[in-house]
Amino acid sequence: MKSSLKKSAKHSLKLGKRLQQIEKMATSEEYGHIWDCCCDHGLLGCALLNRQVEATISDTSSDMPVNIVSNTARNKDSDIHFVDIVPELMAELENKLQRFYSSSLNTVIAKNWQTHCLDVAKLPLDQYDGKHLVIIAGIGGDLMIKFIEAINQQHKSLAIDFLLCPVHHQFSLRSKLIELDFSLIDEVLVEENQRFYEVLLVSSSSAAESRVNSKINPVGDKIWLSDPRTQLTIDSSGLSIKNSKEHSRKVSLSQAEIADKYLNKTLNHYQRMQKGLQQSNKQDNQQTKTNNVNVDVQHIIDAYRAVILPVLVN
Ligand SMILES: C[S@@+](CC[C@H](N)C(=O)[O-])C[C@H]1O[C@@H](n2cnc3c(N)ncnc32)[C@H](O)[C@@H]1O
Repeated sequence: MKSSLKKSAKHSLKLGKRLQQIEKMATSEEYGHIWDCCCDHGLLGCALLNRQVEATISDTSSDMPVNIVSNTARNKDSDIHFVDIVPELMAELENKLQRFYSSSLNTVIAKNWQTHCLDVAKLPLDQYDGKHLVIIAGIGGDLMIKFIEAINQQHKSLAIDFLLCPVHHQFSLRSKLIELDFSLIDEVLVEENQRFYEVLLVSSSSAAESRVNSKINPVGDKIWLSDPRTQLTIDSSGLSIKNSKEHSRKVSLSQAEIADKYLNKTLNHYQRMQKGLQQSNKQDNQQTKTNNVNVDVQHIIDAYRAVILPVLVN
């Protein structure tokens, strides 16, 4: 039994930095049900199942330290739901899951996964007891907004956590989450293949209701490692981030560089957009004498310009 469990834990493909970060944040709390939405080939959900397999191995191996990976055991009993709207993808995934996580391997894990070929807007959360984590990654923020609004509308009485990683439209997504009075549990910025990803762990409960969670900032907060009183210092022990509110903590120089590069890239993007909008408004005005047809993005530029990156002190 143990060797077949090890085989299924090993079959996974290596996750990139973005999915690794999402996987890490998915196991930061205990959930009854984790929904890997828009799962495509199910890489993320399989990684979460593999963690459960690893936790079972460490439980059953007397020669292994009990706390081998602290987050591993945490979601050992979560049900992993794979959701995608494409039937062929789901049939292929169902086949793969049957092969690698069938009942002959482990009776607990065999019961811990389900596939759903459906629209994310129609998640049947109320059919399952326990706390839900809805993961949506790899799609645009605009489509994500539609899914979140639909889920929130249909399950008003449930406190649901969402783990979100949009490929673009981060500002509109954050603005919608603020409008819905969601609260922030954690946020991280990741760079992979020269692209930047904001990963947001949020709750449908408000910051006031949850007490521990904070308010969501429209341009992000923690992702910039920023605080007006923050200083980055390099000493013999490496790079530290220090401010008056918390003890100094280690960050990598690359994380500070990623924040700097992402801020520049985002500002350039909106400044180019603003120029384009002004140009087309000018042309529209000349042709039709109408005013401000296109929406202005100056408020977004101003919000990103107000971000203060930590000061590097040698
Ligand atoms: C680029 S993949 C994202 C894969 C993975 N989540 C990631 O982050 O790497 C996008 C997936 O979203 C799925 N999708 C698009 N609209 C959907 C909907 N309304 N409901 C469920 N899945 C949807 C597509 O079929 C596709 O497999």
